[in-house]
Amino acid sequence: FADLGFELRVVAITDLAFGSLVQGEGIDLAAVLAMPRGSSFEGLPGGSTEARNEDVIKNSPADIVVEATFTSPIDGEPAVSHVRWALESGKHVVTTNKGPVALKGQELSTIAASNGVRFEYEGAVMSGTPVIRLAHKVLGGLELRAVQGILNGTSNYVLGRMEAGLGLEQAIAEAQELGYAEADPTADIGGSDVRLKVAILANELLGAGIHPNDVETTGIQDITSQDVADALARGCRWKLIGEARRDADGTVTAVVQPVALPAGHPLAGISGATNAVSFTTDLLGAVTVSGPGAGRVETAYALISDIIAVDEFAKGAVRA
Ligand code: HSE
Repeated sequence: FADLGFELRVVAITDLAFGSLVQGEGIDLAAVLAMPRGSSFEGLPGGSTEARNEDVIKNSPADIVVEATFTSPIDGEPAVSHVRWALESGKHVVTTNKGPVALKGQELSTIAASNGVRFEYEGAVMSGTPVIRLAHKVLGGLELRAVQGILNGTSNYVLGRMEAGLGLEQAIAEAQELGYAEADPTADIGGSDVRLKVAILANELLGAGIHPNDVETTGIQDITSQDVADALARGCRWKLIGEARRDADGTVTAVVQPVALPAGHPLAGISGATNAVSFTTDLLGAVTVSGPGAGRVETAYALISDIIAVDEFAKGAVRA
């Protein structure tokens, strides 16, 4: 990262090994605050217990706080507190955490704006695959009417394996072995992981102002091998689709549900654990981007892309 010419100091709070991934030549890492369940941070500066994180975040000389803790999808903690402490003390925040963005995104963005700092979260949806920034920067000038996505790799992998003849339980077990599914795959299969991501996209790209609880959610748990075979015979593929749409009266509705997509649909060909989003625009029709939706390096890249955006902002560049 030396070539990028960063002038910012970073403090990372993480259970995972993102600290070592964001540390590189050109990034001045002020501290890594390992959480109690934390990984090894050998060789990295700093170090803290969870109890001291408020003091360290507020008093750190860092310019940017990297928030990558394991966080509850119910209340967004501890990430919401970490983000709030950092923004209130005038530090930019980058995060891969869905929880604080889906549950408190508007409030945290307002705190950021009133403190003259950035709150960036590209990795909250589709890890490092650009979705939020793509829509803001590249699709700027278009009217975005709807966002439709395959936003959970596990469920997409499972549906694909069911097409190959596996039962639901067997396919889930395989996804766990491959590391796609969580140890408890309920959030993947039941749709609640996608619900958070759809709420983020609806709020960020369609100005919806909704809470994840407003997103009607059905998972793939009741899709049978017969359903999958019947769809294939009709030339269709079952996909777990998260969608947010602006209706004719201007209201935005968001829903997560399994849909049997016809072969010509832009999301029908997305296989394995790959994620994809299709934007419905006024002038270009459907614009679709696909790529990884999870993974250690892929998610760490999202943090780097956010740090680049913050760095541009700090140097006076205007973000679309
Ligand atoms: N378990 C999630 C998935 C990881 O399968 O897509 C990213 O949220």
